[in-house]
Amino acid sequence: MAEETKRRILSGMRPTGKLHLGNYYGALCNWLRLQEEYECYYFVADWHALTTEYEAPQSLSGYVTEMVIDWLAVGLDPERCTFFVQSAIPEHAELYLIFGMFTPVHWLERNPTYKEQVQELAHKELTTYGFLGYPVLQAADILMYKADGVPVGVDQVPHVEMTREIARRFNHLYRRIFPEPQVLLTEVPKLTGIDGRKMSKSYDNCIYLSDPPEVMTKKVMQMVTDVGRPFRKQPGEPDRCLAFPFQRLNQPAEKIEEIIRACRSAELGCVDCKKMLAQAMVANFAPIYEKHLFYAEHPEIVRDVLLQGNRRAREVARRTMAEVREAIAFTLEFQLW
Ligand code: TRP
Repeated sequence: MAEETKRRILSGMRPTGKLHLGNYYGALCNWLRLQEEYECYYFVADWHALTTEYEAPQSLSGYVTEMVIDWLAVGLDPERCTFFVQSAIPEHAELYLIFGMFTPVHWLERNPTYKEQVQELAHKELTTYGFLGYPVLQAADILMYKADGVPVGVDQVPHVEMTREIARRFNHLYRRIFPEPQVLLTEVPKLTGIDGRKMSKSYDNCIYLSDPPEVMTKKVMQMVTDVGRPFRKQPGEPDRCLAFPFQRLNQPAEKIEEIIRACRSAELGCVDCKKMLAQAMVANFAPIYEKHLFYAEHPEIVRDVLLQGNRRAREVARRTMAEVREAIAFTLEFQLW
């Protein structure tokens, strides 16, 4: 398919930590599939991270490269995808500002993700203008590249919905510039952290893509199995076991069947079962781990990837902003940039 006719995909991640298996199965696997068929823009949403991390923004800069290393390590290909950093493209801020002029505050206040987050992160002061406006900035990210599809998890659906409303409103008020993007809902496998809660950096229960084999093995051995099976001789139930979803993702189908049978008949104990799991996972993630080491030792490659991506993204952003300014009848006649 010719480059021009390919449909365009855009998605972003906030640089708030190293990526873990929840991110891998939940988002990156999807991103990998999409790069086969579409023109993909994947970016580091550092301004979005600032909405919650404004008190300690120092940590964010390290995570920018760290995250791109994770992307490269899993096999996202900078020849096929454009990787960029949001704050390197100042046009996002300009478009965000313009969208802010006609986005009603009540759209933002009724956003379920917003309400949930303000409660969940009650220890942070999030009743800020920037946090309320988070979806407006996200709309600017998406519409800047006129993306057709936005792969996100279910928590982000309200934001893409609002992006569509903002696009409609702009098109109606001024001129039809923006297509309405589709949500490409990511099916997230039911994975938990090693303690059984949601896998999350703040719970300290993650397996990271960058974990060395021995760390991965240790974490697998700590995973909570069927709590209804306190004794080795008792039959177990894979559906109650928190390690089992990882088996499903890491073992061939015949092996899964065998594990289910042997668990239910008490032939297989949890320790042995998890040993097999650790072995399979370490083997499956070895190529990613190796690539991770390679890029961590070659920061200049990562830097070049980002510089090149930023340049490509900025080209598109400049073109879109020229159209936007023209549509709202603003010119750059007297500006210095
Ligand atoms: N809000 C997204 C998240 O927290 C990150 C993000 C920012 C994003 N801008 C985006 C995702 C644009 C998709 C498209 O995960």
